[in-house]
Amino acid sequence: MKARLDSLTAEVLDRIRAAPSLEALRQIEQTDLARKGELLSLMRGIRDLPEAERAAFGQAVNRARQALEEAVAARRDTFSSALVSAAVHDARFDPTEPAEPLPRGHLHPITHIRREIEAIFMGLGFSVVDGPEVESEEYNFDLLNIPANHPARDLQDTMWLESGHVMRTHTSPVQLRAMRRAEGKVPLRVVAPGRVFRNEQTDATHEHTFHQVEGLMIDEGVSVADLKGVLNLVLGRLFGGSIEVRLRPHYFPFVEPGFELDMRPAGSAGKWLEMLGCGMVHPDVLRGGGMDPERVSGFAFGMGLDRLAMMRYGIDDVRWMMSGDPRFLQQF
Ligand code: DAH
Repeated sequence: MKARLDSLTAEVLDRIRAAPSLEALRQIEQTDLARKGELLSLMRGIRDLPEAERAAFGQAVNRARQALEEAVAARRDTFSSALVSAAVHDARFDPTEPAEPLPRGHLHPITHIRREIEAIFMGLGFSVVDGPEVESEEYNFDLLNIPANHPARDLQDTMWLESGHVMRTHTSPVQLRAMRRAEGKVPLRVVAPGRVFRNEQTDATHEHTFHQVEGLMIDEGVSVADLKGVLNLVLGRLFGGSIEVRLRPHYFPFVEPGFELDMRPAGSAGKWLEMLGCGMVHPDVLRGGGMDPERVSGFAFGMGLDRLAMMRYGIDDVRWMMSGDPRFLQQF
């Protein structure tokens, strides 16, 4: 029986090694190595052996089975690596061909402008601060001297939340947050860029979600001359040339006096371009922020980023900005 086992094992091993395909290998497993195969029927013959030989024969059968199973696994491996190498050498597959280019992200035009403005102000000693887009009525209106019956609070302009909060209608509330954080310490120089929201009919120049940069500088003896000087310098750097600015009186509840600032290239007799709202921070607003208006004064401004980006890049419709259209974004 031992002799039969050895010859059978050798014979099956040869067949495994010579198996021409995965299919042939599977065939061998299902016949020679199966329960009903000859190998296992030899195993059953163990009963007929003398007591003393049974253990040794059992071990021999197990060794044989193990050897055969390993041979099957080894043969199968040669087939799979052959498959891989066939795929690699397939004339239709060229491993040296460059990969499909990954689509590349683009910075939003608003991001470009915002970063430029931040860099210019940081160079002047301003820090960049942030505030919440969901704002309380107190910060968005009351502390900015905008009384309850002011038209700015109108349902037509403001997006009210059921909680009584508002989507901030401007970045000005960050002035109060920055002042309160400073706890009366001056100088305070901050810019606060961010999204603002209005309940607007949208068209080429109006969008319900747009972008502003708020600026605030408070110190002892800050005057309108500082306001004009700083903004002249910043806008000159932003537009890359020498410009002149003028202040036109304008009413904003949180500044006194308040202005609109226009600019044009220095020395030109051309049209003035309206750029932003600004003014000297109202004493009530200073007090609300924990500053002493007898000791310190400050200027503030609020500038729309969307129109700046539109001017810079020649964009004709503000609705592109929030469109999320990749064909728009790919241009910047
Ligand atoms: N918050 C104003 C707006 O959204 C803009 C503004 C005007 C901001 C004058 C200021 C300012 O800080 O001084 O229309």
